[in-house]
Amino acid sequence: MNNNPIGIFDSGVGGLSVARSIRRKLPDEDLIYIADSFYAPYGDKSKEFIFLRSSYIFDYLISRNVKAIVVACNTVTVSVIDNLRYKYSIPIIGVEPGIKPAVAVSKSGIVGVLATEQTVNSISFRNLINRFTDHARIETQSCPGLVELVETQKIEGQEIRFMLEKYVTPMLDKGADTIVMGCTHFAFLTKILREIIGSELKIINTHQAVAAETSRRLNVNNLLTLGTQGGDEEFLSSNVHKNTSLLFEKLWGEQVAVSSFT
Ligand code: DGL
Repeated sequence: MNNNPIGIFDSGVGGLSVARSIRRKLPDEDLIYIADSFYAPYGDKSKEFIFLRSSYIFDYLISRNVKAIVVACNTVTVSVIDNLRYKYSIPIIGVEPGIKPAVAVSKSGIVGVLATEQTVNSISFRNLINRFTDHARIETQSCPGLVELVETQKIEGQEIRFMLEKYVTPMLDKGADTIVMGCTHFAFLTKILREIIGSELKIINTHQAVAAETSRRLNVNNLLTLGTQGGDEEFLSSNVHKNTSLLFEKLWGEQVAVSSFT
């Protein structure tokens, strides 16, 4: 048993979708969330850059005695999680686009994946897709601009709707009946995507699966907290400005304080 916090990080606020599910699944755990928003998006950065930033954040979280780190970012997971696992011995939980559950529910056998450029072009994402190409056709689409809109709280309205529509329409035209949100920021666009694609098609997010995996990993490593009073959350961002708390509050769902991460 271990009462230390769980560290969670993302290139920005997208990982709050994962953190929210972890909070629901593990109500008594303390959480430290880091949004590296100053450097978001990671999706157009090099693998080397992503590894350097991730290592910097890992070092900080480990200095805060976290017992496990959740990489709440598809881009980091598919590009450098193996390197991070090699470098650090702490339990690391990652997030990958949910192709497996999408293939399982798709009736047309055509699955669309919306993700960042770095994710779409990564070798491990290609490998993930190749595991399912016997069972389905996977159409991928990189979505520059979407992460930036979520980071600036534009998760509703015409601008994001048009952009999302532009990215998803070619997949629908090709017959996709299941759309995978391959970036944790996009979880916050589920409602607007639903409005665009209608109620028949399926949308796959992975945050609940990541929360379940986090719980499982803590359990098998005997790291679950003994606390029963409800855990605390601490939020940090590398880009704190006058609207940061509002943005976090909107995505987290209640009032929070956000400290600066340097
Ligand atoms: N939330 C991150 C992900 O899941 C966004 C990555 C980025 O900043 O490009 O991929």
